[in-house]
Amino acid sequence: MKAVVLGAAGGIGQPLSLLLKANPAVTELALYDIVNSPGVAVDLSHIATPSKVEGFLPPDDGLKKALTGANVVVIPAGIPRKPGMTRDDLFKINAGIVRDLATGIATTAPKAFVLVISNPVNSTVPIVAEVFKKHGVFDPKRIFGVTTLDVVRASTFVSEILGNRSLSPSVSVPVVGGHSGVTIVPLLSQSSHPLPASLETSALDALINRIQFGGDEVVKAKDGAGSATLSMAYAGAEFAGKVIRAVNGEKGIVAPTFVNLASDKTGGDALKKELGKDLEYFSAPVELGVDGVAKIHGLGKITPAEKVLVEAALPELSANIEKGVAFVEVPK
Ligand code: NAD
Ligand code: LMR
Repeated sequence: MKAVVLGAAGGIGQPLSLLLKANPAVTELALYDIVNSPGVAVDLSHIATPSKVEGFLPPDDGLKKALTGANVVVIPAGIPRKPGMTRDDLFKINAGIVRDLATGIATTAPKAFVLVISNPVNSTVPIVAEVFKKHGVFDPKRIFGVTTLDVVRASTFVSEILGNRSLSPSVSVPVVGGHSGVTIVPLLSQSSHPLPASLETSALDALINRIQFGGDEVVKAKDGAGSATLSMAYAGAEFAGKVIRAVNGEKGIVAPTFVNLASDKTGGDALKKELGKDLEYFSAPVELGVDGVAKIHGLGKITPAEKVLVEAALPELSANIEKGVAFVEVPK
């Protein structure tokens, strides 16, 4: 199981690489960045876990060498937000970075599972897909937008409301839609640990808002020094770990992730019907299998208030998706 991190020397890349190095299911780890990746690789290579670690830079076909034989490629390359920016403000720079890295994957490791962290995820995932289409290697089952941090935040914040942080690892809340502001839709009515019936509407609204804008909370606290890195590395390693377990044959693993709805036609079509919109991508609970996406689940039973949140997410989500698609069709 060869895992590759593109953007491995960054704020997310380093701790994510550490967590992948700690995963015994990973047998080979390749770290690629435009700076510092060989140093990070040598540092990690002293850790007594099975994987061999190597670092690569752009010269001498570094990207190609890193990607050769890759099974799972995680992409946290690109610039992070500063206070006052939206994720869409990152498009100008990150779209080109992701397009070029996706070209490398499409030409060197077209069968790899690609896990996209770089923002804006709602647009960067369509960019990867369009690049793969251009190269004739598109398999919608194998491309994932990593929205796990929203799920992790929901677990944490719900456990806080329940007054018991030790519950947080077992609290499970589906978060659907996309990965930016109002496109992040937590389905709190489906929480594994129900919220108290006595919870005031204002407290419920505040909880939803905190999950939707959790990223801004971190950006504000870091005060110009970037966005979530450590919690993202934790979430990214958790999602990558699930993909690896599923690819290795474990059954029944379900995780919310932003996928192309064509990857499971039956589930994707049913979800589009539920949404009342012909969206190409959506984050929904997805059952993972040996080939990637095995089954896209629907929204399930949602409350009228959650239906309003889902509807509010659709215009921005749809615009973000179209922007990503158009970037590859007509490069700017
Ligand atoms: P960072 O600036 O600390 O690290 C980014 C790394 O990417 C740097 O090491 C940089 O050298 C590298 N890089 C730049 N161009 C590259 C290229 N062409 N090829 C390879 N590497 C390249 O940023 P960060 O805090 O690690 O965030 C990275 C991205 O992840 C941002 O876009 C951020 O918005 C996003 N993010 C997503 C989520 C999510 O939930 N999906 C959460 C947090 C951050
Ligand atoms: C997050 O949710 O923390 C990330 O998408 C980074 C950001 O810009 O908020």
